[in-house]
Amino acid sequence: MGDHLWWNLSRSTAIVALVLLVLSLVWGVLLSTRALREVDRPAWLLSLHTWLSGTAIVMTVIHASALMLDQWVAFSPVDLLVPGVATWRGATRTAEIGTAIGVVSAYVLLTIQATSLLRHRMSRRAWSLVHRLSFPLVFAVLIHAGWTGTDTSNRAYQATAVVLAMMTVVATVIRLIIPSRTRRTGV
Ligand code: HEM
Repeated sequence: MGDHLWWNLSRSTAIVALVLLVLSLVWGVLLSTRALREVDRPAWLLSLHTWLSGTAIVMTVIHASALMLDQWVAFSPVDLLVPGVATWRGATRTAEIGTAIGVVSAYVLLTIQATSLLRHRMSRRAWSLVHRLSFPLVFAVLIHAGWTGTDTSNRAYQATAVVLAMMTVVATVIRLIIPSRTRRTGV
């Protein structure tokens, strides 16, 4: 474990971040569509939605930072900040592209979160346009996990990824079918 501490920390926080991000997307869709309005409460949905995305960001920061401390990949700050720069011994082209997608996704995630925290100072339309990036964002993060992850041959990892991808597809289809109701509920 000692030699692989940072590597294991990076991989485990990555999986937790992915799970939280998909749950945040699902909660966002439940909030905007009020598909479960018989049993839910908008304030509760919003507060959990915000917590899920905020914790996903904390996990993403740990996931990326641990890569700088791992001796095998030994990422530099430039590797983490500039998409397409990072490479390491034994990296395939697919893994490098997957990593670049991960870097771009992190910027998009931070932009969605930052604009949401400031949403009362923005027009509803501008905020909503940025917020809709969360759908392609989650699909991009799933591709990042599939192309870059070293556990992709592990059955448990594959099963988790398939369940998360299905949840994302179902939530996206539900949102395409049901229009947003939040204007009426005042969230
Ligand atoms: C401080 C952080 C956040 C706040 C306060 C927030 C707030 C909201 C609110 C109020 C809605 C309902 C919008 C509507 O119906 O028009 C919503 C929907 C949504 N949110 Fe967030 N959000 C945050 C972060 C995120 C992040 C990081 C993601 C990325 C996964 C995300 C994904 C979604 C999705 C997918 C929807 C449904 C959008 C739609 O149906 O058009 N949110 N969010």
